[in-house]
Amino acid sequence: KKKLILDLDTGVDDAQAIMVALTAPDVEVLGITCCHGNTPLENVLKNTLRVLKVCNRLDIPVFRGCAEPLVDKKRHAGDFHGKDGLGDVPDPDAPGLELLQEQKASEAIVRMVKENPGEVTLVATAPLTNLAEAVQLEPSLPEKLKALYIMGGNCESRGNTTVCGEFNFVADSEAAHTVLDRYTCPTYIATWEFSCRNSLPWSFVDVWLAQDTDKARFMDKISRHTRKMVQTERYQKELVAGPGFNSCDTYALAAAIDHTLVTESEEVAVTVELEGTYTRGMMVLDYMDLLKKTHKATILKKVDLERFKQMLMDALK
Ligand code: BDR
Repeated sequence: KKKLILDLDTGVDDAQAIMVALTAPDVEVLGITCCHGNTPLENVLKNTLRVLKVCNRLDIPVFRGCAEPLVDKKRHAGDFHGKDGLGDVPDPDAPGLELLQEQKASEAIVRMVKENPGEVTLVATAPLTNLAEAVQLEPSLPEKLKALYIMGGNCESRGNTTVCGEFNFVADSEAAHTVLDRYTCPTYIATWEFSCRNSLPWSFVDVWLAQDTDKARFMDKISRHTRKMVQTERYQKELVAGPGFNSCDTYALAAAIDHTLVTESEEVAVTVELEGTYTRGMMVLDYMDLLKKTHKATILKKVDLERFKQMLMDALK
């Protein structure tokens, strides 16, 4: 079985990613580590448990991670995901936080990877604070990882949070910088532009969410607010594949589960801008190797959309 650790800031697309991970054949989710991001950490923890409850998988260990970025002020994406991160449709029967594990997220990452050397794929769809902390705790962590998949950054300097910055990299730019520098394991990056270029047509989204299951009803409900946001002209003009929805985090997760979904990618050394009036948090691509970095990342470009859609359909069954 493919062993995954998911590092999330559970908002709407993280929830979709969890559901895909839990329905994929031959995948074992060792644990979910939570980070500040789309919404404050306390909400992220609650949301993660809520999603696991809908999936009937509260047996998966969930860990509390960093509540704030390394240096930056906290930044959330309430406009996009709803203030509570899941569309502001509260669940009175939500599971309580007493279900959380005691170990801290970064320590749990180090432990789970050490217990399964060379076998774990880490999928990070949040600001990278927990991952930065983990590699500080255990500098040899990347050597023991099978791969790292990140949703974050941008490859054409198109921002979604600042003019040139994507949310996860802007929300903790120092952490993104540390991770891109120190995780020398095979690293795959699903950028903001990648999700825009591989968007899901609305006709698919309607059929996907209309499935007659509890999971589909839950997803329909919690994603209403976000879908409304994505329907605005500002977002739709970014979706070069045509009108639709880009479930950013799910692309990274799907590629981690089955890399053959990726039909086009390129290898290039990357880093993150830490200064700049407009560019702090922007991912920088070093095509001419001017930075002389020995480690390159693989930037995802295209997915097999039909197979991706099938994975999403199965996730809500
Ligand atoms: C990223 O930011 C978040 O709002 C999404 O969950 C995704 O991880 C997209 O830029």
